[in-house]
Amino acid sequence: MPRHIAIIMDGNGRWAKERSKARSKGHEEGAKNVRTITESAIKAGVKYLTLYAFSTENWARPKSEVEFLMKLLERYLDKEAETYRKNGIRFEVIGDMSRFSDSLVKKIESIRAETAKNKKLTQVLAINYGAKDEIVRAVKKMQSLSLEPNEQNLSISLDTAFMPDVDMLIRTGGDMRLSNFMLWQSAYAELFFTKTLWPDFGEEELFLMIEEFKTRERRFGRV
Ligand code: FPP
Repeated sequence: MPRHIAIIMDGNGRWAKERSKARSKGHEEGAKNVRTITESAIKAGVKYLTLYAFSTENWARPKSEVEFLMKLLERYLDKEAETYRKNGIRFEVIGDMSRFSDSLVKKIESIRAETAKNKKLTQVLAINYGAKDEIVRAVKKMQSLSLEPNEQNLSISLDTAFMPDVDMLIRTGGDMRLSNFMLWQSAYAELFFTKTLWPDFGEEELFLMIEEFKTRERRFGRV
């Protein structure tokens, strides 16, 4: 079984375009699907689910879209706090929080603290996240703590220090690239790409991927 699944949730904009709707509608449907897939991951026995919700590069999108995504994130957190409680989900974030509004950071911190002891699954949102930025911040942290630069010390200095490496990395939306996501933690991840757009990605397809994961031979560089 995969312990840690990470997902690049791509295709919200195209999902909306296909329906002649505004891109924001696609993001709204995408946010709804976060709950669906989190519940499916719990059913499957997955312990960590990391979702790429906003990248360090996404700030370059039109101001109106960035503002919409920020508001959507706040709304999502307001709504989901209850779901986390009910379903025993621990909420975590990775990324550089320093660019977010005080109110958003406060909200994130309070949900993190409130759900810290939940054990069913840890849902991790990657927000203002970029793997290169994360690695640079980790190196600075190692330097400031005078830690010897080695793999172990870098791993514990990353935002992801609290969780295991990625077992399965999924990208929806048809593109076959990693887009600066979890580069260190996915060194030995099994990769899955699907043309399905994120709002349409459902439990059935996730479970089929997990079945395929079980058949893959992971050698980690050995024979
Ligand atoms: C990619 O779609 C999606 C994102 C920019 C990030 C994912 C955002 C969500 C799923 C919604 C917000 C999530 C939460 C947790 C509130 P795209 O716009 O790049 O799609 P396109 O490639 O079809 O244009």
